[in-house]
Amino acid sequence: MGKLDNKIALITGGTTGIGLATAQLFIKEGAKVIVTGRNPETLGQAKTTLGAGADVIAADTSDLKAVEQLFKTIAERYTKIDALFVNAGVAKFAPLDQSSPEMFDEQFNVNVRGAYFTAKHAAPLIADGGAILFTASMVTSIAEPMASVYSATKAALRSFGRSLASELAPKIRVNTISPGPIETPIFGKLGLPSDVIQAFAADMMQRNPLKRIGHVDDIAKAALFLLSNESSYVTGIELFVDGGMASL
Ligand SMILES: NC(=O)c1ccc[n+]([C@@H]2O[C@H](COP(=O)([O-])OP(=O)(O)OC[C@H]3O[C@@H](n4cnc5c(N)ncnc54)[C@H](OP(=O)(O)O)[C@@H]3O)[C@@H](O)[C@H]2O)c1
Repeated sequence: MGKLDNKIALITGGTTGIGLATAQLFIKEGAKVIVTGRNPETLGQAKTTLGAGADVIAADTSDLKAVEQLFKTIAERYTKIDALFVNAGVAKFAPLDQSSPEMFDEQFNVNVRGAYFTAKHAAPLIADGGAILFTASMVTSIAEPMASVYSATKAALRSFGRSLASELAPKIRVNTISPGPIETPIFGKLGLPSDVIQAFAADMMQRNPLKRIGHVDDIAKAALFLLSNESSYVTGIELFVDGGMASL
């Protein structure tokens, strides 16, 4: 018996990295999984990887019309959602003097505005006893240079996680997961030269109490806990899955 038998899970940003690994685990645990993304290439690859257990839908989280349309489509195809993983996110790192309004707006539009309105449109479809999980980051607690805007978006998500847990209780549990450094395609999209990224990854590994960069399955397993009945008495928390970086 799977931990998500007969459950329907929506994972935004489910085409690569953490979201894709979580979709694979959720399917293994019996869920029908809906994943979203933007890039046609990775949408196609996700369809192949996930197979018939998944419904792969193109929807740009930063486009609120697309978010509304996504939930119209879901309402037509499914009667309810049991688990919502608000995971789509972008990270653009830059020091203060090299930051720009464009990189600021992109990160807030995807990570914050998109996440909030995803939760808003999803909530009426979420079944009694269902759960929402926001992907924040350990940067809600650790101040990293060059990550000021990204960290601010994740602080907002952490705040949504608590406020909405309070607002949506007792019907829906809401939690936040804060990954440490996890090996995913996001590192190649930071907008930094590859030697800087390599130095960044080496520094993360050296400072990490568990002395390794995390694997996507480390996050998928924790997401399974927080979005299944295994965490039936847990709401409003921020779970750090970061090798101890934020806590030790
Ligand atoms: N990897 C880490 O070290 C780490 C640490 C802490 C937190 N996180 C967070 O974990 C989440 C997943 O990141 P990841 O590391 O798995 O990176 P990733 O492989 O780059 O995955 C990002 C996912 O989000 C989707 N996405 C991005 N912008 C979108 C948009 N506007 N609309 C719809 N989908 C969008 C991407 O699809 P497209 O490519 O199609 O846009 C992709 O599916 C993010 O919220 C990230 O901030 C990651």
